[in-house]
Amino acid sequence: MAKDKTLYTCSECGAQAPKWAGRCADCGGWNTLVETIAPAADGARRNPRFNGYAGESAAQSIAMVESSVEQRFPSGFAELDRVLGGGVVQGSVILIGGDPGIGKSTLLLQAMVSLAGSLTTLYVTGEESLQQVSLRARRLGLVSDKLADRLRLLTETQVERIIAVAQQERPQVIVVDSIQTIYTEMLQSAPGGVAQVRESAAQLVRFAKQTGTALFLVGHVTKEGSLAGPRVLEHMVDTVLYFEGDTGSQFRVIRAIKNRFGAVNELGVFAMTEKGLREVTNPSAIFLSRHQEEVPGSVIMVTREGTRPLLVEVQALVAESHSPNPRRVTVGLDQNRLAMLLAVLHRHGGIAMYDQDVFVNVVGGVRVTETAADLPLLLAALSSLRNRPLPSDLVVFGEVGLAGEIRPVQSGPDRLREAAKHGFKRAIVPKANVPKQAIKDFEVIGVQRLAEAIDSL
Ligand code: TYD
Ligand code: MG
Repeated sequence: MAKDKTLYTCSECGAQAPKWAGRCADCGGWNTLVETIAPAADGARRNPRFNGYAGESAAQSIAMVESSVEQRFPSGFAELDRVLGGGVVQGSVILIGGDPGIGKSTLLLQAMVSLAGSLTTLYVTGEESLQQVSLRARRLGLVSDKLADRLRLLTETQVERIIAVAQQERPQVIVVDSIQTIYTEMLQSAPGGVAQVRESAAQLVRFAKQTGTALFLVGHVTKEGSLAGPRVLEHMVDTVLYFEGDTGSQFRVIRAIKNRFGAVNELGVFAMTEKGLREVTNPSAIFLSRHQEEVPGSVIMVTREGTRPLLVEVQALVAESHSPNPRRVTVGLDQNRLAMLLAVLHRHGGIAMYDQDVFVNVVGGVRVTETAADLPLLLAALSSLRNRPLPSDLVVFGEVGLAGEIRPVQSGPDRLREAAKHGFKRAIVPKANVPKQAIKDFEVIGVQRLAEAIDSL
């Protein structure tokens, strides 16, 4: 058999070179060339007009395309199913990223045992031995489960052999843990490298799509926080999930970054216990720290993750700075946005913090990316600056514009209902988010300007 030729492709601009070089000759990017397999030269890429058999591709009108309802299977975790958009879709490819030790293997092992009830399954591990996996299953109490008999295990790291086994076993769901350990014999580079990860994943994805197998790929995350290996991996798959959380805390959050079969930014919450992962169905309760008394610098906000409102606590610490460049530090929020909001507070609220260090944090390791955090953030900073606590039964949300206006956010009523459900009594929200129907035992203060919000405290 003729050996497949390899060449080097720039991961930035796509230029190709026969030899590796430190710098791409086309775009000048450093260290961007990765080994790739050269396309077969047997005419597959030739212009179809000259092929004589060009009639195979034809356009159709969208209404004529036969649609079949995608089949979904429950994973045994309602939290995971929601993040996936309602269960595991047949033939879909799901990438789960996360730091080492966060619980990816545990989550998938538990889900696979549950899926084994209705489907044929194959768990491929390139990181652990079969003994380790089965020991873990035993520790999780999954083995006594008669479903565990039906979960097939394989340790293998070569993608061609994995596919050969999968062709024999004909599983409906495959887990490959992790894609960084898998290699293809077609490339010479070491496993874990960009080229290997991409090519092995491409082969697995092709297999999954051709056979209608659901495929979970586990991917480790680099120190910079992106999935190790190329971002290209994220383009190849249908769904990208991130599994995150402080390793110090037992709570874990799974989040959809991309989903061809459902909404993104949907959030699932788990707790890591000695019996494996357990779902947390009422996450609002855990992200609020329980203060005995009211403390300055703490504001409860209602954020919205996917389709679900979530109560989180925003904390700020404002302290006099002795540096010419006062610090602006955020954890769980956008740092540039903090600098911008402090400027708005100065200009439109008349409160200056240019001689203060400002630290803000979202409790529980949650990340809030939406603008509804603007107003809570400013009020928390103000509360810390003045050393005056806000009432503990108050929630706040709202976007702050550069002109000092308070802009409405999506799904105001949902957020307010969630707050009322958890026993809060008051809310400061954008005027346009004030519901037409009053909520029982719940006072809603609508504000239009930042100055108004500050006065209303
Ligand atoms: P693991 O699933 O191996 O992480 P990953 O595959 O993402 O690298 O999880 C390992 C961690 O989870 C480990 O630090 C121990 C902890 N753990 C528990 O606390 N309870 C359990 O029942 C299990 C199986 C793991
Ligand atoms: Mg693992």
